[in-house]
Amino acid sequence: MDDRERQKEAAAKAAAAWVRDEMTVGLGTGSTAYYFIQEAGAMVRAGIRLRAVVTSEATGKLAASFHIPVIPPEEAQTVDLAVDGVDAVDTDFCAVKGGGGALLREKIVAWKAKQVIWIMDESKPVKNLAGFPLPVEVLPFAASWAADAVKELGGNAVCRQRDGKSFFTDNGNRILDVVFPKERDSRLAAEAVRQIPGVLETGFFDRMCSRILIGTTGGVRELVNPNKEKAPLQG
Ligand code: 5RP
Repeated sequence: MDDRERQKEAAAKAAAAWVRDEMTVGLGTGSTAYYFIQEAGAMVRAGIRLRAVVTSEATGKLAASFHIPVIPPEEAQTVDLAVDGVDAVDTDFCAVKGGGGALLREKIVAWKAKQVIWIMDESKPVKNLAGFPLPVEVLPFAASWAADAVKELGGNAVCRQRDGKSFFTDNGNRILDVVFPKERDSRLAAEAVRQIPGVLETGFFDRMCSRILIGTTGGVRELVNPNKEKAPLQG
């Protein structure tokens, strides 16, 4: 395992310390969330009763492989704790997500969750998200017109491909990877893109976390979001 993987795993283990018996947990998507799902699986094996709402088909399969009971959103009155990775996070607790194409369900689960922990290796924190590619989920019918509209807003949008084929999300939608010039405010740019008809959600997560756990070579660094109504869990 290389350093970066060790950092992801360490952050995920630190997040697992916030899991309590009988919680409904929101499970994120991606290579960092993987370690948390693995950890949650070990807790279930040890006797902790958890239920999970998952943010992608891939995470659902992974959770099932670790014997974590998965329930659909309509069976979850609440989500006690959501744990997910990010593509980048700035010093104001805003993140860009959607590198794995799961941003829509990830945002719904983060919005519903009482507590949100973002876990990451030390490559993810950035000073500022300006110029960072923003994934945007869009209805296939609207994809090319929405890409044109992004250009009219001063950005550039490319419809995501994977392995030489059109990429579709678990919801049957397309992803536009949008870039604006560095001098554009990333929050305002994301808000403008969100207004385009056919755009379902952007990967700009505006301070939607309670805390951030960063695996580093010197241990796990914890940042608590002071602005969030999702009051951080007490230890
Ligand atoms: C998926 C996501 C992921 O959380 C994000 O891409 C981070 O992934 P990884 O932990 O593999 O770097 O937003 O839609």
